[in-house]
Amino acid sequence: MPATAVADTTSADTKSLASLIRTPDQRIRVFVSSTLQELAAERTAVRDAVTRLRLVPVMFELGARSHSPRQVYRAYVEQSQVFVGVYWQSYGWVAPGEQASGLEDEYRLSAGMPRLIYVKSPAPDREPRLAELLARIKDHDSVSYQRFSDPAELQRLVEDDLAVLLSERFEMTRPTSAAPVPALPVPATPLVDREQEAAEVEDLVVRQGVRLITLTGPGGVGKSRLAIEAAGRLSARFPDGVMFIDLAPVSAAGLVPAAVAAGLGLTTSGDKIVADVVSYLRARQLLLVLDNVEQLTEGAPLLARLLAAAPGLAALVTSRTVLRISGENELRVPPLAVPPSYTKGSAGLRLGPAVRGPGPRGGARLRADRTQRAGRCGDLPEAGRPAAGHRAGRGQDQAAAAAGAAGQAR
Ligand SMILES: Nc1ncnc2c1ncn2[C@@H]1O[C@H](COP(=O)(O)OP(=O)(O)OP(=O)(O)O)[C@@H](O)[C@H]1O
Ligand SMILES: [Mg+2]
Repeated sequence: MPATAVADTTSADTKSLASLIRTPDQRIRVFVSSTLQELAAERTAVRDAVTRLRLVPVMFELGARSHSPRQVYRAYVEQSQVFVGVYWQSYGWVAPGEQASGLEDEYRLSAGMPRLIYVKSPAPDREPRLAELLARIKDHDSVSYQRFSDPAELQRLVEDDLAVLLSERFEMTRPTSAAPVPALPVPATPLVDREQEAAEVEDLVVRQGVRLITLTGPGGVGKSRLAIEAAGRLSARFPDGVMFIDLAPVSAAGLVPAAVAAGLGLTTSGDKIVADVVSYLRARQLLLVLDNVEQLTEGAPLLARLLAAAPGLAALVTSRTVLRISGENELRVPPLAVPPSYTKGSAGLRLGPAVRGPGPRGGARLRADRTQRAGRCGDLPEAGRPAAGHRAGRGQDQAAAAAGAAGQAR
């Protein structure tokens, strides 16, 4: 489709389409990085995969040239749009005076482009420096990392992955008619006292580039409420919007992928669920809010996989415990400040439930606190007790939540 045919798009949209869609002489170039000898058959397989898609394989081969090998592969990487790295046992040759091998150098030079990484296994004699490099690559959030065992499997994987990658890139450039609407629940009451924590979340994501924040704390302390507030503030930063998925009704970790897929509005099922979620998120710049993940922390590997596959994805999770996955930043949600007159051991705290009924002094005092606060920031929610429908067992944290509850008239 020539760019001139895109009559109803803005000039910026047209520009981005034009820079993506190439005339036949300008097909996407795929740089193939690997050691040469031990992976000779694999290089042929990748070249075949690339050419079958009518793209251009760019492969560095040793040979007499008027430039140094480094200058040559550097220019090759720079002129490519996709990087495919294939690794097995050898770390490759380190040129005199260099710290790293050409193989590692090529990987570094490919920063900023989509990277598809394939690692051959088993690899009983893998050199330690390659093992280190692969560990680093694996930790790197923006690469797709897969294992394979023979050239035929590699060819299949590369072909599939490139086809998906290109489709997604095209999809990303489609002009959108309106800004996405943040899909967040709307609390019935005004927010109290969470400026500092919300700003902290914003800062972690925007300034520090953190992609996984877990808000932890006892039941009722205000994790979900803070997540909603922070996600609302961040929504403008994510062109594909914010998705809020409440996992409270999900009873087993095995059901998390289906719940996430449903939350994203995907129609998928069976073995395809995870692959479809990955493929949906891979090219999107989206903030995923996963609410009430506790009890389902076994589902954390799914989130790790999504974050690894989708460089534009960030996740804001609420959970009573941390997920323990790479890149996670825990932010402990403190209880709302307790007014001075309302110290631990006061009648109000001990008689917590009474505040909801007529009676003892504690209740009266708590109402007084609430009135004071209401004067400042509107009424607090009526006793922030767990919503109906919360999972059985969630109530067990109520005692632990007492400090938080105090600030919330619980
Ligand atoms: N800062 C706040 N301002 C106003 N209301 C709040 C605030 N924090 C929490 N609440 C209210 O208190 C109640 C409990 O808060 P929330 O659901 O966020 O707790 P939680 O930590 O997510 O609990 P759980 O672990 O049970 O999911 C809710 O009704 C919520 O709207
Ligand atoms: Mg919650």
